[in-house]
Amino acid sequence: MKFDTPATTNPIDQLKVVGKPLDRIDGKFKTTGTAPYAYERHDVAPNQAYGFVVGAGIAKGRITAMHIDEAKRAPGVLAIVTTLDMPRLGRGTMNAAYLFGGAEVQHYHQATAVVVAETFEQARAASFLIRVDYAPEAGKFDLAKEAPSAEPVASDSGEGSGGGPEDRVGDFEGAFAAAPIKLDETYTTPDESHAAMEPHATVAAWNGDKLTLWTSNQMIAWGRGSVAKILGIPAEKVRLDSPYVGGGFGGKLFVRADAVIAAVAAKAAGRPVKVGLTRPLIANNTTHRPATIQRIRIGAGTDGRITAIAHESTSGNLPDGKPETAVDQTKLIYAGANRLTSLKLAHLDLPEGNAMRAPGEAPGMMALEIAIDEMAEKLGLDPVEFRIRNDTQVDPEKPERPFSHRNLVGCLQLGAERFGWSKRSARPGQARDGKWLVGMGVAAGFRNNLLAESGARVRLDGRGVVTVETDMTDIGTGSYTIIAQTAAEMMGVGIDQVVVRLGDSDFPASAGSGGQWGANNATAGVYAACMKLREAVAQKLGFNSTDIVFADGEVRAGNRSARLAEAASAGDLTAEDKIEYGELAEKQQQSTFAGHFVEVGVDSYTGEVRVRRMLAVCAAGRILNPKSARSQVIGAMTMGVGGALMEDLAVDTRRGFFVNHDLAAYEVPVHADIPHQEVIFLDETDAMSSPMKAKGVGELGLCGVGAAVANAVYNATGIRIRDYPITLDKLIGQLPEAA
Ligand code: MOS
Repeated sequence: MKFDTPATTNPIDQLKVVGKPLDRIDGKFKTTGTAPYAYERHDVAPNQAYGFVVGAGIAKGRITAMHIDEAKRAPGVLAIVTTLDMPRLGRGTMNAAYLFGGAEVQHYHQATAVVVAETFEQARAASFLIRVDYAPEAGKFDLAKEAPSAEPVASDSGEGSGGGPEDRVGDFEGAFAAAPIKLDETYTTPDESHAAMEPHATVAAWNGDKLTLWTSNQMIAWGRGSVAKILGIPAEKVRLDSPYVGGGFGGKLFVRADAVIAAVAAKAAGRPVKVGLTRPLIANNTTHRPATIQRIRIGAGTDGRITAIAHESTSGNLPDGKPETAVDQTKLIYAGANRLTSLKLAHLDLPEGNAMRAPGEAPGMMALEIAIDEMAEKLGLDPVEFRIRNDTQVDPEKPERPFSHRNLVGCLQLGAERFGWSKRSARPGQARDGKWLVGMGVAAGFRNNLLAESGARVRLDGRGVVTVETDMTDIGTGSYTIIAQTAAEMMGVGIDQVVVRLGDSDFPASAGSGGQWGANNATAGVYAACMKLREAVAQKLGFNSTDIVFADGEVRAGNRSARLAEAASAGDLTAEDKIEYGELAEKQQQSTFAGHFVEVGVDSYTGEVRVRRMLAVCAAGRILNPKSARSQVIGAMTMGVGGALMEDLAVDTRRGFFVNHDLAAYEVPVHADIPHQEVIFLDETDAMSSPMKAKGVGELGLCGVGAAVANAVYNATGIRIRDYPITLDKLIGQLPEAA
């Protein structure tokens, strides 16, 4: 189905099932331990052996020898494959570092060997007996030091943000020089780890020349293609299966070492092999969100209108890696005639930087929305009012291009009202609650909505059960449920009459889970397949009317009705289709908007920051399931608190690795860190996005939160921290004299 004209009224608009806050249909499996994750797929292949991955102990250089004889003799060992046993394997989609093969070491903990044994403990114990000789080389590990040599680059995050090395509109320098009120500040964000609950893991089995990987992956079709490319085998010979994923956040957009090494190890051992990356390997073997240095300049008139805005970001990566596209939202979010955005990339020999939840906008908004708060203060304007005054309904770089639907103003206004913003003191450091200095902060939220082709297959059986199959993944987001809701709405059955099967590359290729595009596109693909199934049903039952209605397990037209199941009485009816998009997204800019409000308390003695209240008001098209969407947003808000206050991969700039490579030292928020969170969705639809009229929301919940926390800390203390995370050591020396 080609979607190239705006959606009109369609069966989804009935909203009998779609739009309802239904419990997740996989919830009972998750809470009873019956939703197996990749490492727990004990039953999919017999006689599984365990592979333990060894990571390089240097950050850059070559391996000159690997001594494995002692390890080979260790109890239970079945096989050892080292990276010297094969030339460097190919590279998959959108990755910079190689996953295995060859003597070159590109980054710390790059995989050097896998030990296969009867048990995990035997494999691990034997791995400690391997000795490696290295010829280390000097590497570059310090972004601040390398930033002056960074080169301008054009880039694309692969998740809808990007731009040229330098994009200009008007005369930024002239307008900035002439502006009566201006800001010129630099903000930094650290390297961050996805730190998903479920580590990367794969069970691999060969059947002749056919490879099956039971793995944990967000993007099945990409993964299948990448495995084929890396191993040099045809894609038809590769099957990926990933029905449950315990979090990905971008770290599982691509196949990683676990998948490739499990395949290699299974071949060597001649039996199925299971490989999980240990927690330390998550930080240094897989990808991470790159640190940024962002310079922002804003000029405004005394009327509070922005006349000049510049956002320039520098980040680092391995050769062939991309920059963090932190300036993208600045192209679109505020008005202003004179504009400059630029991206620079420094060469670093740290592990690969790549997409992490809302790549680009997450760190970009952390900087921009502090800058906006600072500007509002310089102008003597309320920060909510300053944002509203600089709203735009058109793409500021291309004013002939409107937004498809934009209600940032509504988010900010409703949020201010609900949060009690009028009680905030504009002067910082005024509110106290015992030893706590209390402050409120606001930030806008912004993230683009992306359209991507997505396919599905639906089948009706003689009991009236509708089965949906698509390689779409559920990474904890609720895909199973919204897909079931879509099929139920389309076919006029209850959600208990729908079976959803996901994550298998044998199913039609979907948009996958990334860039907050999963919900809208995957359900639109199911919509397309269901439209075809409705036609097949109508034909089978001899209905040729155009006013056919599917409801209550029946098919009705005029005064005729029949049971839906009857259409499949002589055999299952199957339909397959995909949603494909025309030019709508080029003609109008599709984005999602939020107002993020945060109240913090800062301990006046220690500088400890505690979040007290959070509110997000989101404008993101139709909300397919308010319960699962809310869960996405509160999870993202939690991640935003982590980014603001805790998360920081500490770089050892001498040895070139992330030191705090476990969850004891890489701090993320836990329940005790997160207070009351409220989420409000504006009641809206976007007819440009798909027949579902929905947009992404999962990453919107993150973009801006960090800055709202930072702005609240400023409002509480009068201390402006521009260097994330805002830890107490950065506050304590400047705290007002303790009472
Ligand atoms: Mo992308 S960082 O997986 O949404």
